[in-house]
Amino acid sequence: MTSPLTAAPAALTLPNGRPAAEGWTLDPNTVHLNHGSFGAVPLVAQERQNALRAEMDSAPVAWFPALPSMVGAARADIAAFLGVAPDATALVPNASGGASVVFSSLPVERGLEIVVTDHGYGAVTMGAERLARRWGGVVRTAHIPLGATALEAHEAVVAELTPRTGLLVVDHITSPTARLLPVESIAAEARRRGIPTLVDGAHVPGLYDAPLDGLECDFWIGNLHKFACAPRGTSVLVAGSRLKHELYPLIDSWGAPYGFPERFDTQGTLDLTSYLATPASLEFIEASWGWGAVRAYMSELADYAEHTIAEAFAAITGEDHLVGVGMPVNALRLVRLPDGIATNHADADALRDRVLAELGVEAAFTSFDGVGYFRLSTHVYNTTADFDHFAERCVPALSEWAHEQSRAH
Ligand SMILES: Cc1ncc(COP(=O)(O)O)c(C=O)c1O
Repeated sequence: MTSPLTAAPAALTLPNGRPAAEGWTLDPNTVHLNHGSFGAVPLVAQERQNALRAEMDSAPVAWFPALPSMVGAARADIAAFLGVAPDATALVPNASGGASVVFSSLPVERGLEIVVTDHGYGAVTMGAERLARRWGGVVRTAHIPLGATALEAHEAVVAELTPRTGLLVVDHITSPTARLLPVESIAAEARRRGIPTLVDGAHVPGLYDAPLDGLECDFWIGNLHKFACAPRGTSVLVAGSRLKHELYPLIDSWGAPYGFPERFDTQGTLDLTSYLATPASLEFIEASWGWGAVRAYMSELADYAEHTIAEAFAAITGEDHLVGVGMPVNALRLVRLPDGIATNHADADALRDRVLAELGVEAAFTSFDGVGYFRLSTHVYNTTADFDHFAERCVPALSEWAHEQSRAH
């Protein structure tokens, strides 16, 4: 199936001419269209991590005292990849952990408000709500329409800021709605008002070059184990302002007397081989294709996928399934599902499980404002055939399931 609107990009191959997917170990009997949730680790990085684990297990007493300096070296490589200063960058196990560090480190400001948006990642928003309860304050939620322009999104967030706002939490790329938010202008306005800002950039590393250029926020979190393909459990907490001195790791350990970020390099007896093997993922992609070429491929493939799948739905429902997302992302897109399915978070997750079990496809479904979406991801190991498969196999099934759902009501 081809779309008249979008050209099909030629698949990328490994330097040896084999399909790019052979650089990963994903089950070839499953179609993998959900890189955005949990990433996928290239074989070379798995091998690197396995070798590091073997070294650790062969001589633990040599390994652990040397670990903080090894973590510091990995941190410098990861900071260079993101174009940020190593002394502003701490390694944390995941984006949720980075947010938890911020929430648990900020001084108690009783009675203050925390501003979030209705595109926020549920678990991070729950952390903000718990902090607000500890402060004896409340969470204010900015509603941003899916199609909001940068200016409209900026205004929607800024409208919720008050003299009582003690923290602003805003996503760089939103999880349920796969869109960018104008974090540069929002964070600048918050800073002008003296409000600390946490930018949740969980999806960002790997997708954009130098993503923090022009962004002056107090705290930024990003997952290397999503689009940067790092071994899981590798994320950054970037903190540039004086508030970085308030930040302590969730695990109190021997690094406590050190400043930020060195105190995060020591976390007791813990397997930190994911951090140490991350440069192997970054180097593999750079050496095989170059990050710039990979980003261009992911974006072209996402254009193809979005149109192909929306047209397949339209051929059945007679409706338009393209979504007018304001500030779209290069490698994450939404296609609207037929009415009645995935209309809330629990149903969207149940649909993900059903599609995997019955159709053998790993996919992400999200909901926003009561509407269900297929949130597709592209990565270098995906090809047009993956999305043609979704259009041919999953679209009719999803349409049928939606039809059954509407008959049941
Ligand atoms: C925007 C956003 N924030 C935070 C997270 C949490 O990431 P992790 O599970 O690695 O902590 C995710 C995961 O998808 C996300 O999309």
